This record gives sequence, C-alpha cells and structure tokens, in this order.
Amino acid sequence: MEAAQLKAKIISNKQLKCNYWHLEFDSGIIAKNALAGQFIEIKVNNGIDPLLRRPISIHSVSGTKVKLIYEVIGKGTQILSERKPGDFLDVIGPLGNGFEYKWLTKKLDNRKTILVAGGMGVAPLVFLAGKIKFYRPLVLIGARKKEQVLCSQEFKALGCKVVTATDDGSLGFKGRVTDLLKGFLSENQKTGKPEHIYACGPQPMLKAVVQISCENNIASQLSLETHMACGFGACLGCVVSTKSGYKRVCKDGPVFMGKELIW
Ligand SMILES: Cc1cc2nc3c(=O)[nH]c(=O)nc-3n(C[C@H](O)[C@H](O)[C@H](O)COP(=O)(O)OP(=O)(O)OC[C@H]3O[C@@H](n4cnc5c(N)ncnc54)[C@H](O)[C@@H]3O)c2cc1C
Ligand code: FES
Repeated sequence: MEAAQLKAKIISNKQLKCNYWHLEFDSGIIAKNALAGQFIEIKVNNGIDPLLRRPISIHSVSGTKVKLIYEVIGKGTQILSERKPGDFLDVIGPLGNGFEYKWLTKKLDNRKTILVAGGMGVAPLVFLAGKIKFYRPLVLIGARKKEQVLCSQEFKALGCKVVTATDDGSLGFKGRVTDLLKGFLSENQKTGKPEHIYACGPQPMLKAVVQISCENNIASQLSLETHMACGFGACLGCVVSTKSGYKRVCKDGPVFMGKELIW
C-alpha cells in the first residue's frame, strides 16, 4: 500500500517513565494497513524547525488507533512530547517493509521464535509479537538499568515468555541481552534450535545477534534504526551495505535479513 500523508488527531500523549513516552493517534488508514516493523515519519510541529520529519516505529494498532512509544533524546522528540491530545499531527505512513513471518512453520513448538530487543528496540517488536503470538515467542529484553526495561507486561499479556538483562544487574540477568541469547541457545541445544530470531536495538547488539544466529545456523531479521533525512528513498542518507549492494533503510528496510548485512 502507498503511504498516506495525513493530519492525525492525537488521542493521548503521556510520559511512561524516565524519558519514555507513549503517543496514540487516530488514523484508520494507517491502522488498517500497517505491517509489524513499519514506521511513520512525523512532522513534529507546524513550523519549519526542525525541518526533517522524525521516523518512529508503529508500536501497535487497535481499531483506528495507532500507538507509538518514543524516547525524548533531542529537539524533535522533545517537541513531540509537548504535543497535546486534540492536536493534529502531520504523519506519513505506513513506511518501509515490515517483518516477514508468514513462512514460520505452522506447528511450531513454544519458544522456537525469539525476539531480542535492546532499549527502545522493543517498539516494533510488540506489534510483531501480537502478529505471531500463536508461536508463543520468547522475548529477551536488554537495557542499561531496570527503569529502562520497557513493555515486558505488554509482551506477557500476549503470551510471550519474557526474560530481561540489565547492564547493572538491577533487573534480571546482569549483562548483555546477547549473552542471554547465547545462554538460551546452548541450554536448549538438545530440545531443538529456534527457527527464527527477530531483533531491534542498537547496532552493536544487532551485529552480535547476527553473529550468534549465523554460528547457530538460525535465520534472523533485524529492524535498523539508522539516522534518516528524507525518509522516502531520495537522499541516500540512510544507506547500509548489504551483500546485494547499498540499500536504503527507509525504502528497502528498515527490516533486513541478518545474513544479508555487511557491518
Ligand atoms: C525506522 C526507525 C524507527 C524508529 N523508531 C523509533 C521508536 O519507535 N521510538 C523511538 O524513540 N525512536 C525511534 N527511532 C529513532 C528516532 O527516529 C530518533 O530518536 C529521533 O529521530 C530523534 O529525533 P530528535 O530530534 O529528538 O533528536 P536529534 O536532535 O535529531 O538527535 C539527538 C541525538 O540522538 C542521536 N540520534 C538521532 N536519531 C538517532 C537514531 N535513529 N539512532 C541513534 N541515535 C540517533 C543524534 O545523533 C543526537 O546525538 C527510529 C528510527 C528509525 C530510523
Ligand atoms: S532517508 Fe533519504 S533515502 Fe533514506
């Protein structure tokens, strides 16, 4: 489906905790057509500063509501956090390709699909978990500290098993989420390896996920959150190197097969 540009009414825009916010807007078109892993480009205010739209993943949809979660890290997300319910937000979407999951084995055992989220990387994976809840995925969430672990209740409500890792050990396993992944794969060698790993998060985490999945001969898909400029394929500001040449994250991604990427 072609992306739509529209003015969508903000239903709510609330601080979750720390710098994390949750925004809901009303758009039947985007809600109906969005695929898990796609994103929208938001013009955060009505003026020309900031000029560029900001890409944010579609976190989930419900009826005509589209939900986002975002971290306030700079000018654009700060302005977004100041927008009020009833305001109209200029959005373009849904954009990008989304995760592939239709070919997962139908009679998959529990926990044979793993979602790995680092920090704000939970955002598109909740939408995906809703689409593949039939497979009862295992979700590994990594964050620097307890306060930055997001969405674990949302994943659990979808029937996922959630295991967390924090760098400082304030919640769950102390260490990297990719160490949790390694541990899970070695513990479960005898019961059969997972079929697929989906991941979103910081680049070093994604690189490690690909390495682990290749070593274990498991397919992986990653959603990349590269810096973007135009957001619709024209400026080449978001290219990544792949085995089939340079690809634009905004147009050819943001989801790529792990084994295709060259780091
Ligand atoms: C496909 C896609 C989906 C995304 N989904 C989400 C989401 O669901 N929730 C969310 O909070 N964020 C998401 N992001 C990241 C989000 O777009 C940026 O955080 C946002 O554009 C920052 O805007 P800003 O004006 O607040 O910060 P800026 O003032 O532009 O930047 C502030 C600081 O953050 C750094 N920065 C900016 N963008 C990124 C980025 N993409 N990756 C790493 N560092 C960055 C800058 O270098 C700078 O140091 C996504 C990005 C992409 C490409
Ligand atoms: S942001 Fe311009 S081509 Fe992707």
